[in-house]
Amino acid sequence: MSRLQVVSGKGGTGKTTVAAALALALATKGKRTLLVEVEGRQGIAQLFETEALPYEERKIAVAPGGGEVYALAIDAEQALLDYLQMFYKLGSAGRALKKLGAIDFATTIAPGVRDVLLTGKACEAVRRKEKSGRFAYDYVVMDAPPTGRITRFLNVNDEVAGLAKVGPIHNQAQAVMRVLKSRETAVHLVTLLEEMPVQETADGIAELRAARLPVGRVVVNMVRPAVLDATDLELVRETPRAALARSLSGAGLGGARRGGHAERLVDPLLAQAEEYAERYALEQEQRSVLTDLGLPLHELPLLAEGMDLAGLYELATELRKQGIA
Ligand SMILES: Nc1ncnc2c1ncn2[C@@H]1O[C@H](COP(=O)(O)OP(=O)(O)O)[C@@H](O)[C@H]1O
Ligand SMILES: [Mg+2]
Repeated sequence: MSRLQVVSGKGGTGKTTVAAALALALATKGKRTLLVEVEGRQGIAQLFETEALPYEERKIAVAPGGGEVYALAIDAEQALLDYLQMFYKLGSAGRALKKLGAIDFATTIAPGVRDVLLTGKACEAVRRKEKSGRFAYDYVVMDAPPTGRITRFLNVNDEVAGLAKVGPIHNQAQAVMRVLKSRETAVHLVTLLEEMPVQETADGIAELRAARLPVGRVVVNMVRPAVLDATDLELVRETPRAALARSLSGAGLGGARRGGHAERLVDPLLAQAEEYAERYALEQEQRSVLTDLGLPLHELPLLAEGMDLAGLYELATELRKQGIA
């Protein structure tokens, strides 16, 4: 199992939710996971119903079985200070720079450098060890930028190549790339069973592969429960109306009076079945496109009551059942 799990997907498909559920799912049997956010939206804090995350790793959840989930909202500016500290031992000098506003360039510097600072921080957490020699985190899960930007975001080497051919930024980019392109990393894509996100998933996978970045799994999120299957739908189509009315009546629907009332239920029911059949066909079509991608495929249910902490644990349990963690 890769120690750095990157979660991307079309915006709004549930990247943050799936990343959080995955972090919980991986934190079994006393394992420790770090969930990182790189886009400064405080989505993780919201999901775990805690206050905004500072630039500091802090425990936000305990998983069933005693594992722990830590979270960190990575901020490019802070990551730059860390980086300066690490390479140039610029502790207080870094703080002074920040006070002077010089560090503002972190937000205006070339996007590639910004990205290498963000991915660099995640990779540092992956490699970090405690004094005992044990990894500080068994897994790092990244709530990453959306599919349209993920390859560029991760492909920092290319991004900074034009800027820095030698020197610490170049070395940092190379070190980051070594982790990102290795089996230590897996990039998962979240999608819905709809044409647009599925197409984006297919395109995203092609791009990641072309950049030799390791593609992990596809997670289909917000899957609605299957009410009827293909056989049921066939049966609905073939059953004569009169027989349907009789069955309804026989089941005590439509009131005690003979005939009449049950008959009135037939049309709306058939209309609903037809609507469902259309949706079912569209979803099956997208499922088969996804299956053809040849990656492990997982499905998470649409939680009808909306998302809350209990729902998040439910999704984590589901991921574990499906062997993703
Ligand atoms: N399985 C699910 N069931 C119900 N609601 C979900 C599910 N997954 C995500 N959501 C909701 O969908 C919205 C988008 O999810 P989010 O994780 O923020 O997406 P993204 O990070 O991709 O923009 C949120 O309101 C979230 O609570
Ligand atoms: Mg998000």
